Formats: sequence, C-alpha cells, structure tokens
Amino acid sequence: MDRPLLSVLRGNRSASPPIWLMRQAGRYLPEYRAVRARAGAFLDLCYNPELATEVTLQPIRRYGFDGAIIFSDILVVPHALGQKVWFEEGEGPKLEALTGPDDIARLSLAAIAEKLAPVYAAISATRAALPAETTLLGFCGAPFTLACYMIEGGGSKEFHKVKQWAYGHPDSFGRLIDLLVLACIEHLDRQAGAGADAVQIFDSWAGILPEEQLFKWSVQPMQAIAAGLRARRPDVPVIAFPRAVGPAALMYRRLPEFAALSIDTGIGAHWAAQELQPHVVVQGNLDPIMLVTGGEAMEREVRRILDKLGHGAYVFNLGHGVVPQTPPDNVARLVDIVRNWRG
Ligand code: CP3
Repeated sequence: MDRPLLSVLRGNRSASPPIWLMRQAGRYLPEYRAVRARAGAFLDLCYNPELATEVTLQPIRRYGFDGAIIFSDILVVPHALGQKVWFEEGEGPKLEALTGPDDIARLSLAAIAEKLAPVYAAISATRAALPAETTLLGFCGAPFTLACYMIEGGGSKEFHKVKQWAYGHPDSFGRLIDLLVLACIEHLDRQAGAGADAVQIFDSWAGILPEEQLFKWSVQPMQAIAAGLRARRPDVPVIAFPRAVGPAALMYRRLPEFAALSIDTGIGAHWAAQELQPHVVVQGNLDPIMLVTGGEAMEREVRRILDKLGHGAYVFNLGHGVVPQTPPDNVARLVDIVRNWRG
C-alpha cells in the first residue's frame, strides 16, 4: 500500500511533493468550531477519542491532504506528568508553574500511558477511518518547548524565567529535560503502536536559545527522543521542527535520527535546498500569513518555494501553524497549486 508522504519521509523520490499543514485542524474551519463548541473545554476535546478523531478527519475530507496529524496538544504530556494544565478562552494555555526542584520531583512518569490512553484510542480510530493512502502523524512537544510552558505557567513573550533556570541551575533544569525525554519517548512509542506512521517533534521555542544552550537543550534532547523511539520503532520516521533557529538548523541536519527537518519561514528556501536538502528531507517554509493573504501573492510565493525545494526530497507545509483568520478557500487553492506543480 502506497502512502506518498510516508514514502518521501523514508527517502523515496516523488514526482510532486506530498502536502499537509501544521494546525490543519482548528478554528479556521467552521466544522471544527462546531465540534469545539460541543466538546466544552479544549482538553476535553483532546481526551474525547470520538471527537478528536472527527476533527482530525475534517481537513482530510475537505482537502485530501497526504498527512493527517492526530488532534491533540503538546501540553497533554505535562498534564499526564501531574502538572495542572487548562486553557482559557482567548488566552491560550495556563499551567500551574514549576518554581523549583521540588516541583520537578513531584512529576511522575508512572501514569503517562494510562492518562494518555484516549489519545491512542483516537489514533486507532482515525487510522481505521482514513483513506489507505493517507499517512497518520503522531507528535509531541520537544522538552525545551514543554519546559517553557511548564516554568512560565503559559505562553510568554521573552521566556526569561525558563532561560534563567536553564542558565543558572543547569543540573535541576537537566533533570526536568531528562524526565521529558523519557515521557516523550513513551508517548511517541504508544502513538506508533496505535497506528501513527510517522511522528513530529515540535520545538516551537528553540529559536530563543543561544548556540551552545541550543545544542544542550534542543538538539540533544530531540536527538535522544528520536534515538529512543528508533530503538523501539525502527520503521517510524521522525520529523524535527526546531522553530526559528536560523542557520543553526545545520546542527540538526546530519543527525541520522531525524528523517526530515521542518523549516520555519525565516529560513530561505534556496539556502535550505543547498545546505539542508542534500542531507535530510526538508518540510515547510510557507509563511502562514500568505495563506491568509491568498491570491497572486500566495501563488507566486508557493511556486517560488516549489521551484527551489520541489526538485529534491520535500514535503510541502507551512513555516508554522495555520492561523484562525485563514480563509478555507485559500487552503483549497494552495493544495491545487501544489498538486499541479510539475518540476
Ligand atoms: O492540526 C494539528 O496540527 C494538530 C493539533 C495540534 C494542536 N496543537 C491543536 C490546538 C498540534 C500539533 C498542536 C501543537 C502545539 N500546541 C504547539 C506546537 C506547535 C506550535 O504552534 O508552535 C504548541 C506550542 C502548543 C500549545 C498551545 N496549544 C498553544 C500556545 C495554544 C493556544 C494558541 C491557539 O492557537 O489558541 C494551544 C491551543 C490549541 N492547540 C488549539 C488547537 C486547535 C486552539 C484551541 C481552541 O480550539 O480553542
């Protein structure tokens, strides 16, 4: 059975690049907003296998993407470790912030698989409902990005607290990162066991770290997760998404644990084709705001990216997630352009 996205992630060539979008399920879709209203709290949607399956399938039905990413959130992992996590309407995630080593010591790996069982149930149900040719993606947040939310107690502009902890108390910060590495391996392994064909690790905040710290707190933990998963699931490709790291993307490109490197909007497509693509499958790059703009501007930019990257090992995607203001018709147009591009 041929799954074009999985095949490209495994290193095979394809005539036109496969496409899926980060945050392809979400508030820009009216059918998502309807289910979301029915589900109540955001985490209740994440932990309801039937509804999580439904919203995972919605963008596949509409657009026929090559990949479906299971509907969940990166913050289910801190939640399963015992931290309080909730979502406030219009404000994003909130967590009861970790303030010192004692708070780390209270987190526990023991019940992860049990608490996250609804995610695995949603994956099995989604796999059963998906077209055979659609690749199903599992995911997790990278330890550093998870630590950002866990220590700040939610989103932040500057992430001063997490940086001060990492720079000033690397021993206890390292214990948190190590715990998260183990939690992520377990979570990804279970997702693969339930039917995920490939997985993506989101390091959304990697770009705030200076080089040496980036190596220690992003490159190495992501590599450890990918290596741990590979030991258990050698056939499951791992996509790394270290966002906003600029040319430091070079640090991730040669690691054999990563099948693909997802690049944000700040990396030039031409540079990526020269410096990254000879070593690793490249994914991404279109500015999500181009998808809001649409029209000529979007078409030109999509073709420019395809002309630079589409001749090599490439998965079409955005540089970050679909934003809620995106007109659904622009997504249909995007898929059309990518499907009809011939290199
Ligand atoms: O379609 C998909 O991509 C799968 C589902 C998915 C969600 N979150 C659903 C979601 C995925 C892969 C994520 C990853 C995620 N979650 C990341 C990494 C990627 C990135 O965006 O950088 C991060 C940092 C989070 C944490 C998170 N969850 C934030 C900061 C927010 C609030 C911002 C927002 O868009 O509201 C969320 C909530 C969230 N996660 C929503 C969705 C669809 C919106 C909540 C809602 O429906 O009310």
